[in-house]
Amino acid sequence: MKNIIVTGGAGFIGSNFVHYVVNNHPEVHVTVLDKLTYAGNRANIDSLPADRVKLVVGDIADAAFVDELAKNADAIVHYAAESHNDNSLNDPSPFIHTNLIGTYVLIEAARKYNIRFHHVSTDEVYGDLPLREDLPGHGEGPGEKFTSETPYNPSSPYSSTKAGSDLLVRAWVRSFGLKATISNCSNNYGPFQHIEKFIPRQITNVLSGIRPKLYGEGKNVRDWIHTNDHSSAVWAILENGRMGETYLIGADGEENNKAVIEEILTLMGQPKDAYDHVTDRPGHDLRYAIDASKLRDELGWTPKFTNFRAGLADTIKWYTENEQWWKAEKESVEAFYAKQGQ
Ligand code: NAD
Ligand code: DAU
Repeated sequence: MKNIIVTGGAGFIGSNFVHYVVNNHPEVHVTVLDKLTYAGNRANIDSLPADRVKLVVGDIADAAFVDELAKNADAIVHYAAESHNDNSLNDPSPFIHTNLIGTYVLIEAARKYNIRFHHVSTDEVYGDLPLREDLPGHGEGPGEKFTSETPYNPSSPYSSTKAGSDLLVRAWVRSFGLKATISNCSNNYGPFQHIEKFIPRQITNVLSGIRPKLYGEGKNVRDWIHTNDHSSAVWAILENGRMGETYLIGADGEENNKAVIEEILTLMGQPKDAYDHVTDRPGHDLRYAIDASKLRDELGWTPKFTNFRAGLADTIKWYTENEQWWKAEKESVEAFYAKQGQ
């Protein structure tokens, strides 16, 4: 694979993947295909060498545009999406456009030119799990984490469009022999994450003198993984994954939201109760947890960033040192949340 297209490569996880490829695979040239929506930022990849990375601005749902780019590619790694649950509850339409129509356009191009395709998806397609304390095996028994056999049961407009996009890819593999793999990852954290999302929102709140905001009681559990570990997993699947297979990516990082907010406040030198409880998210998924043993056993992948507290401290440092990256948007993001009591 010498020439790869990375869709959504100017967003949070996509841009971290592009950095990972540039740093670890000197033979690979990356074309980033990104619409530069509110979530995309060319600054995320600006520092990378122009002879290794080219940004092409456009819409993945534009078939003629995608066809032209796909002709010269060896692989498409598909990150582009509308990715925020709260936005999908306000206006689902861009989620239908990008996550469903956009994915359809890409897999048609990959089919036409017989290109290797990797589809980046989310654990949210499986719905949610009971809290560990309510399970007989306390979260470690059979069926108490998501596996690639867990039935789909998405809750939000975001997760249902991601589920639909996964099913499109599966059908194209079976009916047309598309050379595709799928990965479903848990919650990422790290640099370049948009400040609408939980961890960067709270860090930039503290840096802006605003109290962090916790939805409901904060019992909801997310399975945190550093975005660099997501990148290495996607690369492992791209190189050695079996066609048609789904791999779950996670690093055993379960934490409830209250604990995360308290940790952020403590690391930032604030009292750990200096936050507000705000209106809960409608349909809020309770717990996500990934069983990544298939990825570990088949492809030998292991996560490197397993100390969540240290990863959080690095992330706080990044947002503190890169205020110019997020400051201009802070007011409008908070105004959006304030309108819905969050
Ligand atoms: P993001 O919102 O930060 O970035 C999305 C990128 O896609 C942006 O650069 C945006 O400009 C681009 N984009 C949106 N619509 C487009 C279109 N129509 N055409 C071209 N580009 C378009 O998202 P993220 O958090 O980096 O997530 C990336 C992918 O990873 C998504 O597919 C998401 O479902 C998946 N994922 C995210 C997480 C997470 O924790 N954030 C976890 C698992 C999986
Ligand atoms: O699990 C993978 C998913 O993780 C990805 O598919 C999504 O693209 C990504 O956005 C993320 O979804 P979540 O909804 O879990 O992430 P978010 O950062 O929006 O919220 C994380 C948790 O924190 C969730 O339980 C809601 C809560 N929350 C969120 C915000 C923004 C708060 O308590 N306060 C907040 O201000």
